[in-house]
Amino acid sequence: MKFFIDTANLAQIKEAQDMGVLDGVTTNPSLMAKEGIKGQSNILKHYVDICNLVTGDVSAEVIATDYEGMIKEGEALADLHERIVVKIPMIKDGIKAIKYFTEKGIKTNCTLVFSAGQALLAAKAGATYMSPFIGRLDDVSTDGLRLIEDIRQIYDNYGFETQILAASVRHPMHIIECARIGADVATCPLSAITALLKHPLTDSGLAQFLADAKK
Ligand code: G3P
Repeated sequence: MKFFIDTANLAQIKEAQDMGVLDGVTTNPSLMAKEGIKGQSNILKHYVDICNLVTGDVSAEVIATDYEGMIKEGEALADLHERIVVKIPMIKDGIKAIKYFTEKGIKTNCTLVFSAGQALLAAKAGATYMSPFIGRLDDVSTDGLRLIEDIRQIYDNYGFETQILAASVRHPMHIIECARIGADVATCPLSAITALLKHPLTDSGLAQFLADAKK
């Protein structure tokens, strides 16, 4: 399973990249706003800064919600850097835009997916990635991981190549379960990735080894 980091924070992206386990980055307008990135030219520059920090795909989201607007914005984003993946919302014009970019050989990430039917449409349009938001489903008492399981089965039934990119990942068990079910990618906050490192028996075992090494 690929590990993406879900942030626009350059320090966190660099920390994950330096660990050697990072396969890509996802951003969204809320994550950009959280970093205080405002104004079109600053936003575009920030995407380039992210691309220059990593070696994998970087999802950059369009703001337009009409077909022509998404095409114009998406083409400008794709022109920024070879690592850019155009992130497009799961709406009717979004599906049309994904089809357009697929035919042009531009990578896409279909975002805001909350049902298996939406995932099927994204795959039919040829999306490179499709992002079900598992944490937000859990927030409304719906099993986000169950959705990943359903989509895995549907995609495998027909050999769809669209990658299941589990998003809205909140904690390490989400990551472990996504890997067990067979998600292709999990995009995670840095805290969830580093939480995978932790085990009290590792800490106590290491303390014992270090103490014994002094004897
Ligand atoms: O990848 C989507 C993500 O940024 C949404 O996460 O925690 O706001 O539901 P969250």
